[in-house]
Amino acid sequence: MFFPSLVVLLSLSVTAQGAAVPNTHVVHETREISTSRWLKRDRLSSNVVLPMRIGLKQQNLDRGHDYLMDVSHPESENYAKHWTPEEIIDMFAPAQATIDTVKEWLTDFGIDARRITNSGNKGWLAFDATASEAEALLHAKYHYYEHAEGHLTPACESYHVPRDIQEHIDYITPGVKLLAPRKRGHDKRRVAISSSQGDATTAPLRVFYPPDFNVTAAGELATCDKFITPACIRALYDIPETPEYPNGNPRSDNSLGIFEEGDFYAQADLDFHFSNFTPRIPTGTHPILASIDGGNSPVPVSEAGGESDLDFEIAYPIIYPQKITLYQTDDWWYASGGRGKPEGFFNTFLDALDGSYCTYSAFGETGNDRYHSLASLDPKYPDTLGSGEDAYKGQLQCGVYKPTNVISVSYGGQEADLPAYYQQRQCNEFMKLGLQGVSIFYSSGDSGVGGPMDESEGGCIGANYTVFSPAWPNRQAGIHSNITQANHPPSCPYLTNVGATKVYPGQTAKDNESAVVDPAGHPYVEAFASGGGFSNLYPIPDYQKDAVAYFYKNHNPKYPYYTTGVVGQDGGLYNRSGRGYPDVAANGDNIAGFCRGSFFTNGGTSASTPIFASIVNRINEQRLNAGKTVIGFINPALYANPSMLNDITNGTNPGCGTEGFQAVPGWDPVTGLGTPNYPKLVSYFMSLP
Ligand SMILES: *[C@@H]1O[C@H](CO)[C@@H](O)[C@H](O)[C@H]1NC(C)=O
Ligand SMILES: *[C@@H]1O[C@H](CO)[C@@H](O)[C@H](O)[C@H]1NC(C)=O
Ligand SMILES: *[C@@H]1O[C@H](CO)[C@@H](O)[C@H](O)[C@H]1NC(C)=O
Ligand SMILES: *[C@@H]1O[C@H](CO)[C@@H](O)[C@H](O)[C@H]1NC(C)=O
Ligand SMILES: *[C@@H]1O[C@H](CO)[C@@H](O)[C@H](O)[C@H]1NC(C)=O
Ligand SMILES: *[C@@H]1O[C@H](CO)[C@@H](O)[C@H](O)[C@H]1NC(C)=O
Repeated sequence: MFFPSLVVLLSLSVTAQGAAVPNTHVVHETREISTSRWLKRDRLSSNVVLPMRIGLKQQNLDRGHDYLMDVSHPESENYAKHWTPEEIIDMFAPAQATIDTVKEWLTDFGIDARRITNSGNKGWLAFDATASEAEALLHAKYHYYEHAEGHLTPACESYHVPRDIQEHIDYITPGVKLLAPRKRGHDKRRVAISSSQGDATTAPLRVFYPPDFNVTAAGELATCDKFITPACIRALYDIPETPEYPNGNPRSDNSLGIFEEGDFYAQADLDFHFSNFTPRIPTGTHPILASIDGGNSPVPVSEAGGESDLDFEIAYPIIYPQKITLYQTDDWWYASGGRGKPEGFFNTFLDALDGSYCTYSAFGETGNDRYHSLASLDPKYPDTLGSGEDAYKGQLQCGVYKPTNVISVSYGGQEADLPAYYQQRQCNEFMKLGLQGVSIFYSSGDSGVGGPMDESEGGCIGANYTVFSPAWPNRQAGIHSNITQANHPPSCPYLTNVGATKVYPGQTAKDNESAVVDPAGHPYVEAFASGGGFSNLYPIPDYQKDAVAYFYKNHNPKYPYYTTGVVGQDGGLYNRSGRGYPDVAANGDNIAGFCRGSFFTNGGTSASTPIFASIVNRINEQRLNAGKTVIGFINPALYANPSMLNDITNGTNPGCGTEGFQAVPGWDPVTGLGTPNYPKLVSYFMSLP
């Protein structure tokens, strides 16, 4: 259409460097911020082959939110009428006209149609091109850029596309994006082995009880203020011990999904837990392994991980005999930090649940992070970097597991430095999973209004590191400002974000809980504060508008805030226009359990998340048995009926040198709408179609 042939162009690109771009073309992307962290190096030689990817404009993404509300809002006539995966692909895939138009541009330019592939979900076109072809096609100049930490990536400062196809193209890579290596990465929610246990890694294989814990009384509730056992959790939320399964047989289509990465359970720990606290669960009971890209579990008891043991020790007593599916993600080489840096988060997991996510384009990103070098955010499979059994040699797993109805994720990407586009693309995927009827629960974090406390700046953001960090800081080096704008998946409005509560000292499981930092000022285990606040990335969703407005009107926080502009503008500490989190809460302090053969207590929103997820899984079971569909995205129903939750009105979530926000009557950014009231939740969700 625009160029007669490749041959002409090759010579053009060599002889006419810097020549005027034809007026048929427009700039599609330009890098606006330069930074000293990236040094522009040599021009690519003309015969270097680049893996070109053209992300095509998807249809209807802007309507995704409304579609999700249509199946999630209890007053909608389409409540719980979820979509099939095929319906979702059809709805969001680029239009055929888009694919055809862009392909025609490439073939007219001289790229043989046989060189071009279109991804399964039709989201992008891929072909290999020499640097000189790419430069001529895009009226661009490709250079190597060297990152301060040594990584080289090919990129251009700007590139052009024909004016009349621009509307069909999201972005092209390699292009203007420079992706910095991440400094540090995800860290599972903190698990504190109580100090009386000594060093957890060297603890001998024995079971130790603190003097004030009477194990024979474990089924009783006298010590719930010091040791949260399964019986305490049942008492707190009024959960019957005997599940509602006809003949004790759970359904085969309602296993609870639990995500783990780089942390593994040990059967001996689960067995200690069951035999001490829930003898009705036979020892040997274990999750169904859904291995993702080489992830494997369990491990010997001496190598057990606090997160995995905790998740199963919390969930099984609530849901047994219902099953659990363990999504153990990434091979040992990547999961254990083989690249000397943590891996990108959740992309390989989402790939395994939704094959189309492997090739899905949004926010300037297609599939997993594509510069497969040490700097890439995501692991690459087959794993060519690790060796032996540590390295998964198979292909990246795409769409190999049907997602479970409920997924519990007690991990966060604190310090993860994940760019905003990376998170927004994941948030879109959570929207699509919600459309399919999947309920996803994420922990709100354990650092109050700040980030993790081991950060030198206290985990806070803004020019002076005084501003509250929504969920996690995101100090994106490279092209973004060092004042973070970004945020972490848990603040995505299509997830249910879970904060932590506790039983007051001296009180019982029948009394009102408080936020983990109680009015007296302390949680039991290593100081932690339940994450909460307001997003810098996502606006207040409709379902939450009234709750947040009520909070501002009746319990206006004392801190200055900002709305637009830059983070921290005018001394503001939080974004008054952002989505508030958490949505709900559940107990997360002083949880009794076993890890590496020892008794321990621990805390964190890590514990709260599987509690809430397990409860929803039990309600789904009853809905399915009644011939209804599963609940799916639960937030609109919860916000429309907050009396199903026990409102928490005491406690705070300190951080950034402040006492944080206050738990108050109604929704608050410490404990959300409150903790679950199981009988009320059951009767409400059973009353819905
Ligand atoms: C432990 O609990 C059991 C059962 O409630 C009780 O009989 C026993 O006296 C308790 N032991 C101690 C040391 O409190
Ligand atoms: C940061 O601190 C300095 C020194 O106290 C002050 O002048 C400046 O206004 C602060 N900046 C912001 C954005 O708060
Ligand atoms: C980032 O940090 C540098 C040095 O710490 C500082 O000079 C600069 O003003 C900060 N802000 C931006 C937007 O780069
Ligand atoms: C505050 O949140 C709104 C809504 O998401 C967003 O548009 C705005 O950019 C945020 N402000 C800052 C400074 O991040
Ligand atoms: C417990 O919390 C409820 C709100 O959920 C409140 O109405 C009640 O007064 C509280 N009870 C006490 C003893 O504080
Ligand atoms: C909890 O808050 C209520 C008022 O919101 C107050 O009356 C009560 O004393 C508080 N409880 C504790 C233990 O501080």
